[in-house]
Amino acid sequence: MRLLIDTDAGIDDAVALLMALAHPGTTVEAITTTYGNVALEKVIRNVLTVLEVMGCPGVPVYAGSSQPLVARWAAESIFGDDGLGNYEPRPPFSKGVEPEHAALALIHMANTYPGELTLVALAPQTNIALATRLDPTFPSNIKELIIMGGAITAEGNTDNVAAEWNVYCDPEAAYITLNAFPHARLVSWETTLHHPLPIEDYNALTALPTPRAQFFAAINRVFMDPVLTGRTPQHYLLPDPLAMGVALEPGLIRHSKVRHMTVELHGTHTRGQTVIDHNGRLKQSANVEIVTEIDMQVMNDLLRRALAG
Ligand code: RIB
Ligand code: CA
Repeated sequence: MRLLIDTDAGIDDAVALLMALAHPGTTVEAITTTYGNVALEKVIRNVLTVLEVMGCPGVPVYAGSSQPLVARWAAESIFGDDGLGNYEPRPPFSKGVEPEHAALALIHMANTYPGELTLVALAPQTNIALATRLDPTFPSNIKELIIMGGAITAEGNTDNVAAEWNVYCDPEAAYITLNAFPHARLVSWETTLHHPLPIEDYNALTALPTPRAQFFAAINRVFMDPVLTGRTPQHYLLPDPLAMGVALEPGLIRHSKVRHMTVELHGTHTRGQTVIDHNGRLKQSANVEIVTEIDMQVMNDLLRRALAG
């Protein structure tokens, strides 16, 4: 499998990258970056760090959008000031970013390998929307789009209570993306909430005797360490890793439903809410496979494989 990964890394993005880079038979062709969890410059630094930890500094990294298309964006600090659990010291970077803008790189890659590349969208979809507007054939040249984003029962994780973070950051970009791609697979915030990794499994991963597992433990300390957080975490949430799991091992999908989905662009409390047409009333063709149930044994195996090497 050949992957393009669009990311706002982000601790959970970093874990998803570890999974992809360690997965046998999978090649990460390029990583495109955008603002989201933290500002673009910090995201780039985090991606370069992951590539060094994984011994893959040759994977091309592209800098993309630093702001949404229309919305106002402010970083969230749940992942630490740097977005990576205040991870220090950073390894020296063997390579920097490529000169091309991320949106142009996406178009370029998709045109060079039409129908061959799976795009995993782990961030606000600004780069993807830009690529779509610059080249309307871009969606049809992508083999498959996997999205982490959206709230399917209006249980969001943002100030617009019904909106999930990646869509909330840039509702217009999510609207453009969902309405342009003929088909996407989507892992929502609620699917994330319904598939926590039990704390025993999380602890078993951090105890693996490898540099990768030490990195995993170090970046997650900021919200998993009882001493730092003053609470005892009961489980570990996996938003972007679940989406990456769906991309890498689609067989882990236990239940899904195919629907038409769009995005609310207005609303006092609901801007950025993903709207699902369950009964075909909008007379639009189905554009998303909404993943609702995931085999967590397969997920656990993917995480273990990523960290055991
Ligand atoms: O809502 C979860 C998503 O928002 C994840 O992609 C996380 O990294 C943040 O970007
Ligand atoms: Ca993310």
